[in-house]
Amino acid sequence: MKEGKSKIEWAGQQMPVLRLIKERFAKEKPLKNLTIGACLHVTSETANLVLALQAGGANVALCASNPLSTQDSVAASLAKDYDIPTFAIKGEDNKTYYKHLNTVLDFKPQITMDDGADLVSLLHKERKDQIKDILGSSEETTTGVIRLKAMEKDKALKIPVIAVNDSDTKHLFDNRYGTGQSSIDGIIRATNVLLAGKTFVVAGYGWCARGVAQRAKGMGAHVVVTEVDPIKALEAVMDGFMVMQIAKAVRIADILITATGDKHVVNAKLFEQMKDGIILCNTGHFDVEIDVAHLEKVKKSKRTLRPSLEEYVLNNGKKIYLLAEGRLVNLGAAEGHPAEVMDMSFANQALAAEWFVKNKGKLKNKVYVLPKKMDREIARLKLKAMGVSFDRLTGEQKRYLSSWHEGT
Ligand code: ADE
Repeated sequence: MKEGKSKIEWAGQQMPVLRLIKERFAKEKPLKNLTIGACLHVTSETANLVLALQAGGANVALCASNPLSTQDSVAASLAKDYDIPTFAIKGEDNKTYYKHLNTVLDFKPQITMDDGADLVSLLHKERKDQIKDILGSSEETTTGVIRLKAMEKDKALKIPVIAVNDSDTKHLFDNRYGTGQSSIDGIIRATNVLLAGKTFVVAGYGWCARGVAQRAKGMGAHVVVTEVDPIKALEAVMDGFMVMQIAKAVRIADILITATGDKHVVNAKLFEQMKDGIILCNTGHFDVEIDVAHLEKVKKSKRTLRPSLEEYVLNNGKKIYLLAEGRLVNLGAAEGHPAEVMDMSFANQALAAEWFVKNKGKLKNKVYVLPKKMDREIARLKLKAMGVSFDRLTGEQKRYLSSWHEGT
């Protein structure tokens, strides 16, 4: 428990923006008498968000948003040291995972927080009677936002939602630099292989994938990108990466990581074509990107070589190394994004909760983004905490930008 508490404290020291919000919340108590149900990765960074919400007067109940991402020492410390009802065990099975989500909903929250939209989905499918009590729900991740927008399009969404992921101070930093660094961290912790000189294939070129590609390049790997979007593929080419079809890339990949958010990107056909000894992993939210069920079906044998590292041998003798069961490698085999980026993501989450309270009764059942002013304020506070000063527009410059009269 001591380990969890000191981890929480250390992460908190790298989260100055969230700290400022927590201090204000402690004075103003904007979340007084509210219950918040949070389904997030149970990490030392999340613990600091929960403590900020608690300082604001909320009762928070927390469960894991992924069966593999929980830091058990943090969960124990939250429960014992801070009186936060926490329902999460690293490695929990699917049944326990959903039991924990249901337990959080048993607390009858007025605000929910999600990382992947599982709580909102459960609320809409099995706990409909509670929907009337919900002020709103905030969503952390790209995958969750895609699900929620699909619900909105189907007219199935019955509560207001804030897409925290869509704030610039979230996806431009957390997805890019956070996923970039933590995914490499996960690969290294699971395997301890040298990246320099390896052929490193990144499937996808969204913000998360870009971060991974950039960092792998920085470590001396030969980075290949695969994409389905012609604009992103073109960007990858001009960012200096090789771009090719995945069927070709698997033949040369020493390491392949998926970061697309889509299903069966590494499908049944591709396993046969892979280079012998390939290291396979995923950093997308759900474990759907690599068809692990097929790998299980066609394997001749399987053994665990190190924590988070499994060797699959196929009938033709080919070996495939799978990390973290195909779940997100950055949280399954490492500790997720560093606190410095979660600082901004969770500043958005904390402000989203306050925004739901301030806008009670005025919101529609749709997916909102936090106002740009709040996004810019988070960036300003982060820069201040980092000791970085930046320029302001002069009066003349402001006038120039808002006028069409001056030209050639
Ligand atoms: N998502 C990615 N990294 C995370 C972290 N460290 N804590 C909570 N959620 C995360």
